[in-house]
Amino acid sequence: MSTASHPVTILGTGSSVPARVVTNEELSRTVDTSHEWIYSRTGITERRIAGTDESASEMGARAGRAAIEAAGLAPSEIDAVIACTMTPDMPFPSTACLIQQKLGLPTRTAFDLQAACSGFVYGLEVASALIQAGVHRHVLLVGTERISSIIDWTDRSTCVLFGDGAGAVVLGRGVAHDQGVIGVKTGADGSDAKLLFMPGGGSSVPASAESIAARQHFLRMNGREVFKHAVLVMEEIALDLLREHGVLRGEIDLVIPHQANFRIIDTLASRLEIPYSKFFVNLDRYGNTSAASIPLAIDEAVKAERLRPGQLVLLLAFGAGLTWGAALLRWPGNK
Ligand SMILES: CC(C)(COP(=O)(O)OP(=O)(O)OC[C@H]1O[C@@H](n2cnc3c(N)ncnc32)[C@H](O)[C@@H]1OP(=O)(O)O)[C@@H](O)C(=O)NCCC(=O)NCCS
Repeated sequence: MSTASHPVTILGTGSSVPARVVTNEELSRTVDTSHEWIYSRTGITERRIAGTDESASEMGARAGRAAIEAAGLAPSEIDAVIACTMTPDMPFPSTACLIQQKLGLPTRTAFDLQAACSGFVYGLEVASALIQAGVHRHVLLVGTERISSIIDWTDRSTCVLFGDGAGAVVLGRGVAHDQGVIGVKTGADGSDAKLLFMPGGGSSVPASAESIAARQHFLRMNGREVFKHAVLVMEEIALDLLREHGVLRGEIDLVIPHQANFRIIDTLASRLEIPYSKFFVNLDRYGNTSAASIPLAIDEAVKAERLRPGQLVLLLAFGAGLTWGAALLRWPGNK
């Protein structure tokens, strides 16, 4: 292991979403809701829902393959794969191991990271540290979720909000510390764990006829409280990160927030005094894809040329735990 701190950058991005589109109109045929209610409260018009062959590892592998190709690397050059997910294919082995096998990656480090919707920013912090310390040279960081598998499709207050998908980036050594990944900051507060959680399926409530009858294997959420916390902690961590790196909010070219709800993003934009037009938003087409939301948005922003070389980018995440995080990037390449 080298003792120098290596700069870290993003070398390539990729994403993959299920083929099946489920519109608000389609949902309104199975639960008591409407396109008007969903769109006005959330900004979502449709989401992707995985088919039987679209597991978290399968979508993650497709996104990962695209990111490795975009980085111009061979699979043999990837030293580690981190899969950020709260909907792994199974409790063990890790989804990262399954992705490693599907992509034919070297038999080195592979593990899952669970920080719910903040997973990708947490993963960025861990992957960056591994590269900075010289432990690994190239890390494949994947956010992949098949949230449809833990949604109670009879609960209109949650089933309209989420969708499936995956995004990935390859991280490697950059040229300077003020380029690529400039800084990452994360936070957590377990005292609010029950604002957003899935009670069953873990070791405290293993699957049983009773737990299934009590619908404990589905996501539960106090939407109002989650909304309030999301805005407050993302504002605070964004300002802390900018202060630490001496960056003024006016210098930010693009914000890529966790894609949960346009009203959260709009409120955050006002509080941060960064124009909403600088926020990249694609939640209208995907809903909340949890740990996949930021890398999926990054890949779309790159492809749409909203995210361009030289731009200063702020990532903002929030999720169950509660967890949250922010990252500051100077997008690689010359202006
Ligand atoms: C979920 C959310 C959109 C709900 O909006 P809200 O304005 O807070 O709505 P409420 O939960 O107070 O519900 C208001 C009413 O709408 C109803 N409602 C809830 N879901 C509905 C739906 N899909 N369709 C129609 N009505 C619905 C409720 O039953 C309630 O009816 P009542 O007043 O008769 O009891 C909002 O709280 C939110 O976005 N929270 C953040 C969630 C989030 O992003 N979580 C993920 C974080 S990673």
